[in-house]
Amino acid sequence: MIFDTHAHYDDTQFDADRDELLNAMQEQGVEKIVNVSASYDSCRRVVDMVQNYPFMYAAVGIHPDEVGSLNEERFARMEELFRRDKVVAVGEIGLDYYWDNESHDIQKQWFIRQLDLARRLSLPVLIHSREAAADTMEIMKEYAAGLKGIIHCYSYSREMAREYVKMGFYIGVGGVVTFKNARKLKETVEEIPLTSIVLETDCPYLAPVPYRGKRNQSGYIRYVAEEIARIKGLCSEEVIAQTRENARDVYGV
Ligand code: NI
Repeated sequence: MIFDTHAHYDDTQFDADRDELLNAMQEQGVEKIVNVSASYDSCRRVVDMVQNYPFMYAAVGIHPDEVGSLNEERFARMEELFRRDKVVAVGEIGLDYYWDNESHDIQKQWFIRQLDLARRLSLPVLIHSREAAADTMEIMKEYAAGLKGIIHCYSYSREMAREYVKMGFYIGVGGVVTFKNARKLKETVEEIPLTSIVLETDCPYLAPVPYRGKRNQSGYIRYVAEEIARIKGLCSEEVIAQTRENARDVYGV
């Protein structure tokens, strides 16, 4: 069964048919989903939502594009959410110099604060990093040693992937791997062992081929598994089974 390690089912793109879609997940071979928050407001939404679906868990954290809305009071309120049931990770957190919504200093400051939070709570971290490879690695080396987690929507070199794997992190692979022009990610998948890969949608974004550009959902992960299997010369059942074990290991569910 498929384990979707990273989804955003609180997104408004699911408003019209969320319940119907989620209740049919098992028929699509999806066993578990981690619903990930990004903005401050989405943290509570995501935690509330997972209480309604037995197969769904929550990650709570503020995305680098959204850290400008944080202050001490809000951070403390976010921290309270970790007392609720089924909150299994801190995320998504990191650095994003592509959209560059916030200054690099502010992004770094809240990234480090959230890594410290994960350490205090003994929870894994979900790392978002875009066009910020060197700074992310520097902070991870200094503040994430000994933590578990996933480098979500991995987009850097295979050499760097190897380094994260050595640090004990999993590499999150989603729909992008099915894109024709995703040469770097295909090389990374070829390079690192299947025991260090987890599957993710990042839905509603980044749907795999043949749904590229459409709304993504967890059932489409089978196309990601098929492409990883093709690259590694395996069958997709092996990919789904091993990545499920990896996901269970990182989230402890
Ligand atoms: Ni995401």
